[in-house]
Amino acid sequence: MGLFVGKKGVVLGVANDHSIAWAVARRILDEGGQCGFSHLPDRPDDPRQRNRRRVAQLTDKHDAARFLVPMDVTRDEDIRTVMDAAREHFGTIDFLVHSIAHASMDDLKKDTIDTSRDGFKMAMEISAYSLIAVAAAAREILRQNATILTMTYFGGERAVPGYNVMGICKAALDAAVRYLAFDLGPQNIRVNAISAGPLRTLAGRGAGVDDMLTLYEQVAPLGRNIKHTEVASAAAFLLSDMSDGITGEILHVDGGYNIMGSPGRMLDNIK
Ligand SMILES: NC(=O)c1ccc[n+]([C@@H]2O[C@H](COP(=O)([O-])OP(=O)(O)OC[C@H]3O[C@@H](n4cnc5c(N)ncnc54)[C@H](O)[C@@H]3O)[C@@H](O)[C@H]2O)c1
Repeated sequence: MGLFVGKKGVVLGVANDHSIAWAVARRILDEGGQCGFSHLPDRPDDPRQRNRRRVAQLTDKHDAARFLVPMDVTRDEDIRTVMDAAREHFGTIDFLVHSIAHASMDDLKKDTIDTSRDGFKMAMEISAYSLIAVAAAAREILRQNATILTMTYFGGERAVPGYNVMGICKAALDAAVRYLAFDLGPQNIRVNAISAGPLRTLAGRGAGVDDMLTLYEQVAPLGRNIKHTEVASAAAFLLSDMSDGITGEILHVDGGYNIMGSPGRMLDNIK
C-alpha cells in the first residue's frame, strides 16, 4: 500500500522534468497520491504555450495528475485560481508543495552590495513572500494534519558567494517556515522545508550550480552530490504521516555539507 493512497494536494513549481518539484510529485504519484499542478503562464505572444506544454508532457502521463493551471505567484488572482481548482477537484487537500524561486540574472551576477532595489523586491516577493501568499490562500482547504513543504538552500544560513540576493531570500523563507508553522500549528497543519544540496535544474543553473557540485563532492561527508530522488524521499517523509511530530524544521538533504566547519578532505588536494 502506497504512502500517499487517499492523499490529495497541490504541487507548485514544476518547470520541466529536472525540477525538484517534479521529482517530489512523481514520488507522490507513484505512492498512490493525487496532485494538481501549476505552470508559469505563457506569454500571450507565444502561441506554442511552451511553459504549459513542458509541464503537460509530464502530467498528461498520470491519471492521478488532476489539473494543470497557469499561475504567476506575484498575482493573487492566479493563486486563487489554483486553490479554486484544488477545491473543485479535491474538496480539501492533505499537502501543498512550494518549490518556487526567482531572481534576475543581472542581480545574481552582481555582488550583493550592488543588488538593485527593484530586483530585491521581485526576488523576495517570488522566492519568500510567495510561501505566505499560497499558505494563506490554501488555508481554507487545508485539512487538519495537512502539511506544507518548501525548498530552501544553505545560502540562507551562511554566506555562499555567488548566491547573493537569493541567499537573503532563503533566509526570509526559512523564517517564514517557522512563523507559518506557529500560525498553523493549532490546526495541526505542519510547515517544513528541505535544504537541498546543488542539483542541475533551471533555477540551479542560474545560481551557479556547476561550481557547487564540484565543491560539495569534495567537502560533503558523503563525498558525493545528492540526487533528485533523495530529495523526493525526504519530501515524502515530511509530507506524510511519518513526520507527524515535526514542524518548522529545515531538513538538510545535502550529503552532510552543512555540518562541516572546514573544507575537510578537500584540504588533501590543496596540500
Ligand atoms: N537546484 C538546486 O540546486 C536547488 C538547491 C536548493 C534549493 N533549491 C530550490 O528549489 C526550488 C525549485 O527550484 P529547482 O531547482 O527545481 O528549479 P526549477 O527552475 O525547476 O524550479 C523553479 C520554479 O519556480 C517557478 N517560478 C519562478 N518564478 C515564478 C513565478 N513568478 N510564479 C510562479 N512560479 C514561478 C518556475 O516556473 C519553476 O517551476 C527553488 O526554491 C530553489 O531555490 C534548488
